[in-house]
Amino acid sequence: MLKALILSGVILIMCALTPLGGAQQNKVDEQGHEWYHHAVFYEVYPRSFADSNGDGVGDLKGITSKLDYLEHLGVDAIWITPCFPSPQVDFGYDVSDYEAIDPMYGTLADFDTMVAAAKKHNIKIILDFVPNHTSDQHKWFLESKSSKTNPKRDWYIWRDGKGPGKPPNNWTSTFGGSTWTLDPTTGQYYYHYFYAQQPDLNWRNPEVHKAMLDCMRFWYKRGVAGFRLDAVDTLFEDPDLKDNPLLPGKDKFGFSNENEIYNKKLPEVHDVMRDMRKLADEYGAVLIGETWTQNVAQLNEYYGDHNDELQMPMDLMLTQFHALAAPPFREHISALEDAGGWPVFVISNHDITRSYTRWGGGAHDDQIAKLAATMYMMLRGTPIMYYGEEIGMANNDPKRKEDVQDPQGRRGWPKEIGRDGERTPMQWTDGANAGFTSGKPWLPIGSNYKTHNVATETADPNSILNLYRRVIALRREESALRDGKYFAVNPRDPNVFAFVRTDGRESILVALNMSASAQSVKLDLKAAGVVAAASKKVMLSTSGDGAIAADGTVKMEPYSVVVAKIGQ
Ligand code: GLC
Repeated sequence: MLKALILSGVILIMCALTPLGGAQQNKVDEQGHEWYHHAVFYEVYPRSFADSNGDGVGDLKGITSKLDYLEHLGVDAIWITPCFPSPQVDFGYDVSDYEAIDPMYGTLADFDTMVAAAKKHNIKIILDFVPNHTSDQHKWFLESKSSKTNPKRDWYIWRDGKGPGKPPNNWTSTFGGSTWTLDPTTGQYYYHYFYAQQPDLNWRNPEVHKAMLDCMRFWYKRGVAGFRLDAVDTLFEDPDLKDNPLLPGKDKFGFSNENEIYNKKLPEVHDVMRDMRKLADEYGAVLIGETWTQNVAQLNEYYGDHNDELQMPMDLMLTQFHALAAPPFREHISALEDAGGWPVFVISNHDITRSYTRWGGGAHDDQIAKLAATMYMMLRGTPIMYYGEEIGMANNDPKRKEDVQDPQGRRGWPKEIGRDGERTPMQWTDGANAGFTSGKPWLPIGSNYKTHNVATETADPNSILNLYRRVIALRREESALRDGKYFAVNPRDPNVFAFVRTDGRESILVALNMSASAQSVKLDLKAAGVVAAASKKVMLSTSGDGAIAADGTVKMEPYSVVVAKIGQ
């Protein structure tokens, strides 16, 4: 009897933990934290990650073949940028079918195999959902443009021009030129915040709303653990299409700068975020937002007034810091800490110059890459890595307009060179094509692949790769780093950004010398409640032994880091 009771109890507990229909486990710890709070995310740009069939473009089988590598690195979830059928005008961000896989990347069966294999490696799959626009080749748009009376006409934003050759208003596309393109069949203009091949959906139409949420459901049922939501700011436009106020100067494409108050960040965006969240909650899924913001207060809005919008709005602000310097980094982290949300750190992605290039560019590039890694893995929050960051991949920007693949670069050259530079193939080995493909890679291999590649760095204990592995492992092992409070140390130091993470039982000091000169700093740890400053155990140092003396002094090489357990 007792045995039967225990058994049924065990079964009940197991049922509570077993995913339902693709839903993920939803275990919350004592602090109310869910899996994604402690996870390390890794962005895969599928074109460039690993090519299994020699056509020069990466694919899903390629990703599956690298799951061992990702698990060993310490990655918990991968976000795959759009892998759905697409004419590839914007390399997948122009989706022509939300419920299939582009043949270039494989099949739905390959997708299912990848999800199942990832599960064995304890890695969750996050897809990239593009809600703002479809491809102009999506069947919805083809129907919509076929006539003014087509039932799908109102699924997109169609308007008459102001007169011959005059679009409905002055809005300009972030990819250059007017946001309006005239369709000769019906004589009306359609709206596109991005390329003309990316017409904006009309989210004010309830049918669009339903169709899009159904697409998300399709993938949840196939086992995805969540979505990264593309370009959420641009979901809604002012229904009266009021002209945006002009700002001084021109954009990179030669058009007047605008204050985009009528076609960006409209309040209705939050209604959609709440609806997407309700759906995500049904599946225990996580929503990551591509949330471009000017400041932390703006970023906070995306969590929702009742934490009912995005669990993970990305803080993309660090990607806009063009140089390393302790004061602005410290200030930004303090603002995040004061705001109280769970930060989501990003230091580069497929739209932004790689951090290795942005913050490096001199004699200390590898040291700087290690410093950046230590910083965002040791802060309170969830990091989202970009493939290749862990080996110090650099931007490989095109030198001539004729080599550019990204239309943005072709249109804006030379002021806007496009995003090819940060999208070059993953550097696996020092062999042919860096081990990415047996064919001709779609973009040239980065110039540092001989020294900066997975194989070479795996063998070198002092490599960037092994430092990433170490800091990710520390995050996992140390509760002070996972959940501990953050205290800034020596808040006026112009060179060393230092902080303590403490869970009340253990305190860990992280010191980052963000300057090109050696520093000797006397750390004042009283504010963090630490009386005995001397390090109990140096956990990581790229600066000699990294020891902290009894009076709190630590000596640091240029751009070095020290992570140490210190007394209470
Ligand atoms: C996002 C994507 C970018 C894409 C754009 C349009 O910003 O990250 O790559 O071009 O949206 O979908």
